Amino acid sequence: MGRILFAGAWIMGLDPERPDCFNGDLLVEDERIVEISEEAGKIERRKTDRVIDGADLLLMPGMINTHGHAAMTLLRGYADDLPLQKWLEEKIWPAEEKLTGDDIYWGTLLAICEMLKGGTTTFADMYFFMDRAAEACVEGKIRAVLSRGLVGLNDGSNEALQEASALQSEWHGGGDGRITVTYGPHSLYTCRPEYLRRVMEEAAKTESALQIHVAETAQEVETCWHDYGSTPVEHLYRLGLFEHRVIAAHCVHISASDIVILGSNKVGVAHNPGSNLKLGSGIAPLAHLLEAGVTVGLGTDGAASNNNLDLLEEMRLAALLAKGNDCEPTLLPAKKALELATVDGAAVLGLPEIGQLKEGFKADLIAFSLKEPQAAPLFEPAAYVVYAAAAADILYVLVDGEPVVEEGRLTKLDEEKIISECLRRAERITGKSNYRT
Ligand code: NI
Repeated sequence: MGRILFAGAWIMGLDPERPDCFNGDLLVEDERIVEISEEAGKIERRKTDRVIDGADLLLMPGMINTHGHAAMTLLRGYADDLPLQKWLEEKIWPAEEKLTGDDIYWGTLLAICEMLKGGTTTFADMYFFMDRAAEACVEGKIRAVLSRGLVGLNDGSNEALQEASALQSEWHGGGDGRITVTYGPHSLYTCRPEYLRRVMEEAAKTESALQIHVAETAQEVETCWHDYGSTPVEHLYRLGLFEHRVIAAHCVHISASDIVILGSNKVGVAHNPGSNLKLGSGIAPLAHLLEAGVTVGLGTDGAASNNNLDLLEEMRLAALLAKGNDCEPTLLPAKKALELATVDGAAVLGLPEIGQLKEGFKADLIAFSLKEPQAAPLFEPAAYVVYAAAAADILYVLVDGEPVVEEGRLTKLDEEKIISECLRRAERITGKSNYRT
């Protein structure tokens, strides 16, 4: 890998100790950022193996997707325009029964292609055959927080929990430390209290975090009141879930007292505005969560309910919805939206060495081309990224110091082969033909 110097680039590192954006140099050595200069030309070129001219580049930390189901790329566009329960019960769950380990491997690779090209360098995932998803992550050289999705309502629930623990022991710290394993109880409506307690016990053995869907729909809240006499957040709090580190996806239908519980228990929330809108689930009270000090990251959810894995779009939606929801344009300024997708996402996932461009941090970074029309004029780089940039503007993506995207093209993965494998598999799984060959 060696030493790569970005010379004279615009650097927006989200490091509060430096200016918001400056023209300087950034030096990567092996998997880390080793030197940043706030003045261009200060880092000696002769010390480096490769110099990338940064004159028209804007560097920022790689983005972090805090919630998703990567291999659901195979079901992209299969069941659109339906409400969550009908979508799950009549379309998604029956299709998922046909998925094999090889499908998960290829579907996850397709997701990785899309995420890397769109500037996402870390993603959280909850699905099954997760050892195969882990293999795909190693091959694509992306950072990942994986969990075996756990549903406690069927015969396979014990076996699934065993698989989750096997994944932990075999894969945690794998891929040169890029893979983190967590436990993934799917939701309170698919995991009864006894099962959730068992999952917590298992996770506690390795101090692993938990990923769970929480208060995604009004129906979930209604059922929770009916079954347990409380809101979903209160129910999980009483069960002791929040004594563990938790990544709570959605939190759309929550009360003021739920927000206090989430804040005081340091629960990380994964906000998925695109998926929540498309499934007609609602709009999470993002500004209120942030006001209460809750740490929030952004997620795409699976490609069957989004239908892309583009965090630029989620940033934009998060900012626009927060403003529109409260008729208050000062809410969620561009820089805060950027933080949700980077440094705050890192905090939600418990990964302290990513999410900022800082000396000593892992070199997970992305570079936008500033030559595109939507980047002119450039008065405020954060506003360009949040309100104007397209995934196709991203020229370079580095993970652990290695360029995985160069000039907008994947360097490690055979995109054409991955797409053609996935087209074939998607047709088998859904029984539908698609427009691409
Ligand atoms: Ni989800």
